Amino acid sequence: MLLVTGGCGFIGSNFIHLMRAERPQTPILNLDALTYAGNLENLSALEGDAGLGFVRGDIADAPLVGQLFAEHPITAVVHFAAESHVDRSILGPGVFIETNVRGTQVLLDAARRAWASKPGRFVMVSTDEVYGSLGPTGRFTESTPLDPSSPYSASKAAADLVGQAYWRTFGLPVLITRCSNNYGPYQFPEKLIPLMIQRASQELRLPVYGDGQNIRDWLHVADHCRAVLAVLERGEPGRVYNIGGDNEVANIAIVRLILRALGKSESLIEFVADRPGHDRRYAMDATRMRTELGWAPQVDFARGIAETIAWYQANCAWWERIVSGDYRAYYERLYGGR
Ligand code: NAD
Ligand code: DAU
Repeated sequence: MLLVTGGCGFIGSNFIHLMRAERPQTPILNLDALTYAGNLENLSALEGDAGLGFVRGDIADAPLVGQLFAEHPITAVVHFAAESHVDRSILGPGVFIETNVRGTQVLLDAARRAWASKPGRFVMVSTDEVYGSLGPTGRFTESTPLDPSSPYSASKAAADLVGQAYWRTFGLPVLITRCSNNYGPYQFPEKLIPLMIQRASQELRLPVYGDGQNIRDWLHVADHCRAVLAVLERGEPGRVYNIGGDNEVANIAIVRLILRALGKSESLIEFVADRPGHDRRYAMDATRMRTELGWAPQVDFARGIAETIAWYQANCAWWERIVSGDYRAYYERLYGGR
């Protein structure tokens, strides 16, 4: 059985959809606290699927996590659960340390105890943000020193290093993935692309931080999920894998592209005060993923972003329920009486 943490979030839910389609013989247990970012509705198409279990709970709750390992034949973990939004980490860093650092350590410890005689595999989903900011040239490789800028990325760097320490010290088979910015369906509309689509659709002002020239390396979430699956199945324990799209785009270019696709005016753009500690540029060297695991992105950006914009247009009820808070009612409908 595969334990997926954070399976009701953006990437976790896309990963569960991929796994149920591509590896239907692998039962999944999804542990998610359903924080503001967790939306059980992202998995509604899998309702009634006997191969997918759900537990609402906190990864930092050691007794609960220990109990899950005791009661289920968990042989692998893909650990997505995290506080994931940089701006929120600037407003309140505490929960980032609690979930991303302590929660990760609780999971690692439970896996270590449960797998004492027969080791499983623990994929720790880290991020390219652990490397900090790049100047105009160069790319991050797996040996670039970690230099995180925000409380979010510092908490992810800590989790990443604790994972590596569990491999070196205890021999727990931890595999680390560091991916660049994802886009695609089910992304919480606080992140750049869904926020801009949602606000442009409503003709609300579009807040672009600083000069809008910060660069991210955008990768379709389906390509990230396929990369995580490749690492889970074929990666080498103790190894770090960079994942990226070779697709550097400035924020302002993304916002203009969305406006063009929706037929809205650029006058909606409003340059606002910059994010404190704002990383200027990310770019990933994913050679190791390509050469060692035979992975390569399949979704070209022009197609992926057009399909993503179309998805948010076709599913405006999905984000409207998030904006209004109604998405929380889905959990009550499904689990309220249990
Ligand atoms: P998200 O915010 O959309 O989802 C996070 C999920 O984790 C939610 O379902 C939430 O309910 C759950 N969660 C939060 N705290 C929890 C806790 N204490 N216990 C149990 N569940 C909890 O995040 P995402 O964008 O899907 O990111 C998933 C992972 O991928 C994160 O670890 C993030 O750091 C990493 N990552 C994200 C990106 C990206 O572009 N979004 C890129 C690289 C890496
Ligand atoms: O690089 C991987 C990371 O990508 C993940 O680890 C994080 O979990 C994920 O949130 C994302 O972090 P970013 O900070 O890059 O993503 P965000 O969507 O918040 O912002 C993308 C860029 O857009 C960034 O340069 C800030 C800018 N921005 C963002 C928002 C929300 C704006 O200009 N205006 C906005 O309103």
